[in-house]
Amino acid sequence: MKKIAILTSGGDAPGMNACIRACVRSAINSGLEVYGVDRGFKGLVENRIIPMDTHSVCDIIHRGGTILKTARCLEFKETETRKIAADNLKNFGIEGLIVIGGDGSITGAKCLSDEYGINVVGIPGTIDNDLAYTDFTLGFDTAVNTVLWAINALRDTMTSHDRVSLIKVMGRHCGDIALYAGICGGAEYILVPEVPYDIQKIANEIKENKEKGKTAIVIVLAEGAGNEQEIKTIVSVISGSDVKLSTLGHIQRGGTPTMADRMLAAKFGVKAVNLLLNGKTNRVVGCKGKEIFDLDITEALSQKKKIDSDLYHLAGELC
Ligand code: F6P
Repeated sequence: MKKIAILTSGGDAPGMNACIRACVRSAINSGLEVYGVDRGFKGLVENRIIPMDTHSVCDIIHRGGTILKTARCLEFKETETRKIAADNLKNFGIEGLIVIGGDGSITGAKCLSDEYGINVVGIPGTIDNDLAYTDFTLGFDTAVNTVLWAINALRDTMTSHDRVSLIKVMGRHCGDIALYAGICGGAEYILVPEVPYDIQKIANEIKENKEKGKTAIVIVLAEGAGNEQEIKTIVSVISGSDVKLSTLGHIQRGGTPTMADRMLAAKFGVKAVNLLLNGKTNRVVGCKGKEIFDLDITEALSQKKKIDSDLYHLAGELC
């Protein structure tokens, strides 16, 4: 293996830059030539492949986003499109590809390996933490800390005004951002897509607690766990509270990565490069506790993400 390429794909996540840096520096230190692909799989199809050196990754460790940029590429679902991408890599003499992204991006990498023999390694990079095979994905910790910052700020003003704060967070079909931020932010209610809930019952509880003197309430709502406007209306009508909705949106995707994400970025990046150097392909990297491991992509993608029931019950005890 002499030349490898790196791309970031899907939604960006804080820590992607730190991971690109780790991949580039580790590969160069091992004598590899490194290329970056501009704008994910779309850029690969359009042959936007650029040489990288140690200077290309200077001063990026602390930056959110991705210097390689990213794009959603629906055409990559077609095998003919993937052939163009594989041919572009082969024309550059690139034998190994590191893909940093979520499940869709890692599936794209797997197809390149299965169909066209490209050596690929996937690094889980998404704020959603929706990949079952790894404890954490890159960007999740930073996103949760951003949500925590927002909960703290909202709690201040909601308490002053005796209001209910309904905070909608990202996560697609996964409730992890809501669950972790809700527990650590002391939310009274955490609504996630994986667990059914009764909003009328919750609204009645808020009413009863209000009568007992508890007037400031924080509800964290995961995207995918219900319509925020409907929830807001039901809670205000039944409880008689002034409910303020805050949709945090893309603020959760940016910002300087936390220590935990930078550490994960460094370890994932070095592990991915070592796998390629050792001739391993069709692998993903992940973490269990402090251990960094690799796994077959198909096996990794076949695992179904579930909510951490211990954490969910812990939240229930503390709320
Ligand atoms: O996958 C990351 C994520 O931020 C999800 O939480 C969210 O559902 C989605 O991406 C938003 O996508 P876009 O930035 O394309 O609107």
